Amino acid sequence: MSLPAGAQKLAVLNCSQLVTLAGPPRARTGAEMRDLAIIHDGAMLIEDGCIRQVGPRAGIEPLLPNDCQVIDAGGRVVLPGFVDAHTHPVFAGNRAGEFERRIEGATYADLAAAGGGILSTVRETRAASEETLLGTVQRYVRWFLESGTTTIEAKSGYGLTLEDECKLLRVIARLQPLRCVPTFLGAHEIPGEFRGRPQEYANLVIQEMLPRVAREKLAEYCDVFCEPGIFSLEECRRILTTARSLGLGLRLHADQFSDSGGATLAAQLGAATADHLEHTSERGILALRAASVQPVLLPGSVYALGSTRYPDARAMIQAGLAVVLATDFNPGSSPTPSMPMILSLACTHMKITPAEAITAATVNAAYSLRRGQEIGSLEPGKRADFVIHDCRDYREIPYFFGVQSTYAVYIDGCPVSRSC
Ligand code: NIG
Ligand code: FE
Repeated sequence: MSLPAGAQKLAVLNCSQLVTLAGPPRARTGAEMRDLAIIHDGAMLIEDGCIRQVGPRAGIEPLLPNDCQVIDAGGRVVLPGFVDAHTHPVFAGNRAGEFERRIEGATYADLAAAGGGILSTVRETRAASEETLLGTVQRYVRWFLESGTTTIEAKSGYGLTLEDECKLLRVIARLQPLRCVPTFLGAHEIPGEFRGRPQEYANLVIQEMLPRVAREKLAEYCDVFCEPGIFSLEECRRILTTARSLGLGLRLHADQFSDSGGATLAAQLGAATADHLEHTSERGILALRAASVQPVLLPGSVYALGSTRYPDARAMIQAGLAVVLATDFNPGSSPTPSMPMILSLACTHMKITPAEAITAATVNAAYSLRRGQEIGSLEPGKRADFVIHDCRDYREIPYFFGVQSTYAVYIDGCPVSRSC
């Protein structure tokens, strides 16, 4: 193989394990989730930010052009960048005070009922300008990158007026160098001014917010918080049906606090994903399977809320669902941007194996965002989004927890975070 002159050429050599996740061009299910297609003593050739070739070092080294820049991975593990398919990163302030009150006995629901919770973040976020929010989110962008994440799905949902939701989505559009897939979550909570009138707020989402978001191409997906007492199944159906008719893909916060039919609704509407699923019944799991909806599991929110009710990931994998893992990064239920932490929780508390967890956090997540052809695995033709982890064996990533495993992070072949 010869690379054209003038192209930016890069080679990554000396990877103890090049964890490629090469495989069929679709999300992986069942036993496929354990197959990471690892190349021992692997190497990778990159041209203009795109992967040209991967293979054993002995096969790649002779192909190196003279003007090729070489990255020596030093015998470390190289993985695709994590794809975090569920985050709420744009918010002002934080809820460290509520964290303390929960430790002292208040529940997440108590705080929300007293006007705290999501609504307290909404108040602060409405008061912040687009520029201020952009400055605030930069810190979280850095955290994502330092944790080895190169793509996030990013939701609005702390504005809850037409102008404030658009403000949040414009902030998401300006984030870089992290890749972002924007999701409109106007139906995240019923704002104070619509208290007791959820249908009227749903009408505002349907009649004013969604058409504007679609017209200005501010989001690729629409999400809703489907939970009794927040948005009922019927309101969620109305909102999501409108979103679908405007060309948006669908994602749902479903069955987080009760088995309320959210998974079944996701299946009926042909949603891309149903997220959370801590309380989903076997019937719900079968409905997701029949409709090929991907479950996005968020163990960070279970952990941070002090619950032990993790979603039944083993049943989902057994049923043939293409499971995804994500952080749910937000200031209330899951204040972590760290995918390695999520992998650790998934392995320890959900009995997902390290290999299954890595599949769920890379290639499966990429397909859930319609990005599977470009990112999520290290294969020729895909973007060179990869991370050098400071270990010799990929299983060390969920095994050692609470440490930063990343050594260097690359997007499009360019270094975006380096700890050395
Ligand atoms: O996914 N459940 C709804 N939304 C978030 C929590 C947001 C917040 O508490 O600010 C979640 O857990
Ligand atoms: Fe969420």
